[in-house]
Amino acid sequence: MSSPFLCVYGHTNLDHIMSLEEFPPKNTSVNILEKRRYFGGTAANVATIAASLGVPTALASFVGTDLPMEFKRLMERSGVDLSDLKTVDGYETPTVWIVSDSRHDQIAFVYQGPMGVMDRFEIVTDMAEKADHVHIMTGRPDYYLKVMRKIKGTVKGIGFDPAQEIHHVWDAERFREACSLSGYFFCNQSELLTAQRYLGVASPEEMLDVVPMIVNTIGSKGSVIYTKEGKVEIPAIGSKTIIDTTGCGDAYRAGFYAGLFRGLDLRECGIMGSAAASFVIEQRGSLTNVPNWDAVVERASPLL
Ligand SMILES: Nc1ncnc2c1ncn2[C@@H]1O[C@H](COP(=O)(O)OP(=O)(O)OP(=O)(O)O)[C@@H](O)[C@H]1O
Ligand SMILES: [Mg+2]
Repeated sequence: MSSPFLCVYGHTNLDHIMSLEEFPPKNTSVNILEKRRYFGGTAANVATIAASLGVPTALASFVGTDLPMEFKRLMERSGVDLSDLKTVDGYETPTVWIVSDSRHDQIAFVYQGPMGVMDRFEIVTDMAEKADHVHIMTGRPDYYLKVMRKIKGTVKGIGFDPAQEIHHVWDAERFREACSLSGYFFCNQSELLTAQRYLGVASPEEMLDVVPMIVNTIGSKGSVIYTKEGKVEIPAIGSKTIIDTTGCGDAYRAGFYAGLFRGLDLRECGIMGSAAASFVIEQRGSLTNVPNWDAVVERASPLL
């Protein structure tokens, strides 16, 4: 791809979802009742869904030598440029094992692989430097601050979206700098509260002195976009069924950027986000029910 509209930084992950009757005591074993492997990771999700919605998109991420060919093909078939997806020798691909028991309690085991030590690597910015918009998700803060400082002058916009890592991977000082280098900050409800705490403010409106736009998703209640011009409230869009909400936030981002790519206004971009998310929650796994642009527009049109 010569120059992508969007370049997404973050995890490319394998997710193993398992269920048990009961968690076993230490030094014993237990049979798994059901197990499935899903392709996911914040950046792989946003990039694959955005590309499926017709957005020229590149993925910038670190994986191990065991990345399944099937995962790579899925991303390529969707149109994702993988030239900045780097394989790091000596590591396996980031993997999460999520185990739940019959009471729906969960234990997760997280293997970060190369993403856990990416701040030791030289930054990769080939596609980001050519992109209109760069979206920065999970991964090491020091790496991303270097990327943001380097590309700030060349891109139209930087979206900052540390997701759940805002709580335990970022700190107030690094968070403030990342916001000040960004054009827009994405978060869900709990992430917004941590962001306000880091910036020492009591409302999203007060954060706008540091970052010009905030896109806050609020689950089934939809989303709110804050700018100095005011607040835009966007409803969620009903799904046929709700099976698994994992990855709905990532799908929202992809729909949002697909709207930006087509020159839509902020409210319309948010509605495209809601519409894209409404598909992903109809199936288990973030990349199992990825819509195309026509399907998203059809579902969004009553609200446009
Ligand atoms: N139950 C639901 N019904 C319809 N739409 C939903 C529902 N839950 C989430 N969504 C859509 O997905 C968007 C993102 O949801 P949410 O705020 O829960 O993100 P999140 O917490 O980042 O999720 P995750 O990180 O698990 O992907 C919402 O703004 C909404 O449009
Ligand atoms: Mg999220």
